[in-house]
Amino acid sequence: MAALVPTMGALHQGHADLIDQARALAPTVVVSVFVNPLQFGSGEDLRRYPRDLDADVALCADHGVDLVFAPSVAEMYPAGEPQVTVDPGELGQILEGASRPGHFRGVLTVVAKLFNLVRPDVAVFGQKDYQQLVLIRRMVADLSIGVHIVDVATRREPDGMAMSSRNRHLDADQRSAALALSESLHRGAAEAAKGPQALLISAAEALDREPRVVVDYLALRTPDLTQPATHGDARLLVAARVGSTRLIDNAAVLLP
Ligand code: PAF
Repeated sequence: MAALVPTMGALHQGHADLIDQARALAPTVVVSVFVNPLQFGSGEDLRRYPRDLDADVALCADHGVDLVFAPSVAEMYPAGEPQVTVDPGELGQILEGASRPGHFRGVLTVVAKLFNLVRPDVAVFGQKDYQQLVLIRRMVADLSIGVHIVDVATRREPDGMAMSSRNRHLDADQRSAALALSESLHRGAAEAAKGPQALLISAAEALDREPRVVVDYLALRTPDLTQPATHGDARLLVAARVGSTRLIDNAAVLLP
């Protein structure tokens, strides 16, 4: 039995949590480290995506990983850009997909390839990339892929900021501005008992207070992301730019 933790490297404590979860589930743990060009748009940060394989391997060793699979682009895509890819459907067009055309096609295609190359029984993903997680679950269900998907809660800094490899791009000023994302989730969730409108107003206020944060979307959806949420379990999601760095965060909320 083997567990796979697919990553793009620049590993941090959030990834360590995924690895520890994988370790608890399976005797063999594989971590893949691959910055997948297929999921980056032309104007996006592929080139400046942080890379530090030595540090990644050291973190993996510390957490008892059996194998680090770090293929080159040529190894993953020997025939160049693949012609046959995984279509994420409508769910791939909203939220992140609306701002990043082709992103989820790239994600699902590489995840399907990694599943086929590593053949894990279980794969572990973070809730931080919530829409990605939902789409991977849909892919596995819709394409009858025999991999069990396990998710792990977002690891946060003591001040609430979600850990992300992209946080390294933020200077001190931007780092403090970026706190508005987790703050808005926190404030929104605190108003959840008053209903979706009060929740969204409160979450938006926290973002509006920070002029250095350029909001892409603030959305309250059903947990499967297919509908706007009106009652019961819901997901509050935010995406924003701080300087040239795009950040996302999300939280579970319970509506009356
Ligand atoms: O979440 C990530 O780091 C990537 O999108 C993934 C799942 C490793 C696919 O490249």
